[in-house]
Amino acid sequence: MQKRSNFSNKLGFVLAASGSAVGLGNIWRFPYLAAQYGGGTFLLIYLILAVTFGFSLMIAEIALGRKTGLSAISAFKSLDKRFGFLGVLAAAVPIIIFPYYCVIGGWVIKYFSVFITGGVKAAAEDTYFTGFISGTFEPLGWFFLFIALTALVVVCGVEQGIEKVSKFMMPILVILTIIIAVYGLTLNGAMEGLVYYIKPHMSDVSAKTILAAMGQLFYSMSLAMGIMVTYGSYMKKENNLESSVRQIEIFDTGIAFLAGMMIIPAVFAFSGGDRTALSAGPGLMFITLPKVFASMKLGVFIGVIFFVLVFFAALTSAISLMETIVSFFMDKLHWGRKKSALFVFILALIMGVPSSLGFGPLGFISWMGMSVLDIMDFVSNSVLMPIVAFFTCIFVGFIIKPSVIADEVKATDGRFRAESLFTVMIKWVAPFFLIAILASSIASALGIFKI
Ligand code: PFF
Repeated sequence: MQKRSNFSNKLGFVLAASGSAVGLGNIWRFPYLAAQYGGGTFLLIYLILAVTFGFSLMIAEIALGRKTGLSAISAFKSLDKRFGFLGVLAAAVPIIIFPYYCVIGGWVIKYFSVFITGGVKAAAEDTYFTGFISGTFEPLGWFFLFIALTALVVVCGVEQGIEKVSKFMMPILVILTIIIAVYGLTLNGAMEGLVYYIKPHMSDVSAKTILAAMGQLFYSMSLAMGIMVTYGSYMKKENNLESSVRQIEIFDTGIAFLAGMMIIPAVFAFSGGDRTALSAGPGLMFITLPKVFASMKLGVFIGVIFFVLVFFAALTSAISLMETIVSFFMDKLHWGRKKSALFVFILALIMGVPSSLGFGPLGFISWMGMSVLDIMDFVSNSVLMPIVAFFTCIFVGFIIKPSVIADEVKATDGRFRAESLFTVMIKWVAPFFLIAILASSIASALGIFKI
């Protein structure tokens, strides 16, 4: 991690936080959830949550970090001893996410290698993806490679070099995504997909959709896991916190929206209107995009570049996940950096294996129809993160009080435009909402009732 106050200007801060925020969550996870949960309905709920709840929580987390100058593990505790547990709970989230994040990162490298070796036609076949993930050693091998690359960057301390590269890659990723999306829209049947993606149907709104959108919001914006507290601790007082948060949100949401535009209409075009294709889940991007590239002029070339860019977006996010866990062990157990990194590497390696094998040899492990990877994803995003978010709201709303955060936001120019929205959200709306959502999620998990 950088030294405190390392972000010399606001842009540096926004880019670094966006480097953590923009990753597989935007490009891989958002489109498959939107496809699965009613397209426009999911999109609308996501956008509403982003500008109200996501905004408020990100303000709170970054301000907490900047105020205390500490990472999450110590920040909550330093303001109120009773809330030390929240830092530990927040740290548990990346420990669960990181291993399976690297499994997907491995899939990205695999597809890059397929494209570069001319296997596009094969990859566009319906059974290719399933054939690949149901294997044993191949997906494991790519997972090991991805996690080893991440660990190498963290151990060698060359994150800043990677971040520099990724900063100029991000705009290219945006442009390429737009090109692919525009091309996708010209395909036969894509318009129907576009309508599905942007037109909400109120009858589709359910607790499950809201929960999925909320989990995605946390995941995509790196919230409810302490990471933004840590980023905030590196931010200078003279950089405007409120407008930084807006920019990170616009950037993160914009990329997710474009990724959906790139994938969902194409799903319609290639499935010939068969709606079951929409519920492909984690495999959606890997099933759909090869078909798009295979049908496109220069598709192989564009595909190769696309997967390289996604790889870098995934790598910067994986680095920030691993850094968070490494610094947790350094702070808590007073271990050195190398020892912590090695421990996290081995732990994640062991924890990631079942997620990787869950589509093949461990396919018999299933809970509510979910594979091991989906279970990890569900536990972190739909259970732990809402709990962390709930306690963060209680902490800010009733223990330290929203005015403390508001004062921190105002430290730059005396202004906090959305102060009333923030206060109402953090104190009243979000906690009740979170409890309701969490209860329904747990009830459905236990099979008490179907949502
Ligand atoms: N926000 C990242 C994504 O959307 O891919 C995932 C993530 C990265 C979460 C780093 C948390 C984190 F610390």
